[in-house]
Amino acid sequence: MKVRILGSAAGGGFPQWNCNCPNCRGVRDGSLRATPRTQSSIAISADGIDWLLVNASPDILAQLAANPVLQPARALRDTGLVGVLLMDGQVDHTTGLYMLREHRGPLRIWCTDPVHADLTQGNPIFGVLSHFCGVDRRVLPFDGTPFSVDGLEALAFSAIPLSSKPAPYSPHRENPQPGDNIGLLVSDTRDGRTLFYAPGLGAIDAPTWQAMQRADAVLVDGTFWHDDEMPRLGVSSKTGRSIGHLPQAGDDGMISWLDRLPATTRKLLIHINNTNPILDEASAERAELARHGIEVTRDGMEFSP
Ligand code: MLT
Ligand code: MN
Ligand code: ZN
Repeated sequence: MKVRILGSAAGGGFPQWNCNCPNCRGVRDGSLRATPRTQSSIAISADGIDWLLVNASPDILAQLAANPVLQPARALRDTGLVGVLLMDGQVDHTTGLYMLREHRGPLRIWCTDPVHADLTQGNPIFGVLSHFCGVDRRVLPFDGTPFSVDGLEALAFSAIPLSSKPAPYSPHRENPQPGDNIGLLVSDTRDGRTLFYAPGLGAIDAPTWQAMQRADAVLVDGTFWHDDEMPRLGVSSKTGRSIGHLPQAGDDGMISWLDRLPATTRKLLIHINNTNPILDEASAERAELARHGIEVTRDGMEFSP
């Protein structure tokens, strides 16, 4: 299995257009040892030819251009993408669907029922797309039932509900429902290697922990270092946990969880907010991650679990 990181930043990207926090200013003026990042998205493949896009970021066109493997050019109109799987209905994970509207034939999209409701009501992207390519919606089960993705038959997919939040526009933003956010397990049936992916993870409950322990590589929420990172910087009053993101630091933080996984498990962070000190490659926080064997993903990186 191949996993390609198309975008490793959280919503807003890095730098964020209207932000002059130390990170955004520093990467913009070159004074910081840091790399710009586009918004959260990955692509998964069994053979390196057919790819499943997992989340459609607002930066999708730049991401496709930066990853030529996704345009195999076998016909006048072509794509390496066999479909799109949505982990949630967040703006940074879904609005790129608009940019795929020229697709020849309905776009095949896997999503849960709550995400489908949000994308037909609160933010009716699917309704808009019906005036262009249309949507071939596939129900994404989130009770652990295995499902397959046409074109990626060598991979077995399953999903679990996560403790997190639906998108800010969702009619039930403050009343999260199972299936608003999922964690994805992808196993390669040829070698058994397994990925756990969860870019929006608010808390690690027992089923989530079990799924993480089953995986050879965990690619998880790297949004914030401190729970109160945005209030501290004065950019927002929201804490990480209040918007469904478990911070890395602290007794019950992501680092302490990742530490409990076997040393052989590959541990990677994605969906990194522009305020997070780990973006500064010279920071003490980045060095701390390295000491714990935790990698910070970057755009264009490819790995096999
Ligand atoms: C999130 O991950 O919490 C959202 O993408 C936030 C947003 O939509 O800006
Ligand atoms: Mn996000
Ligand atoms: Zn910033």
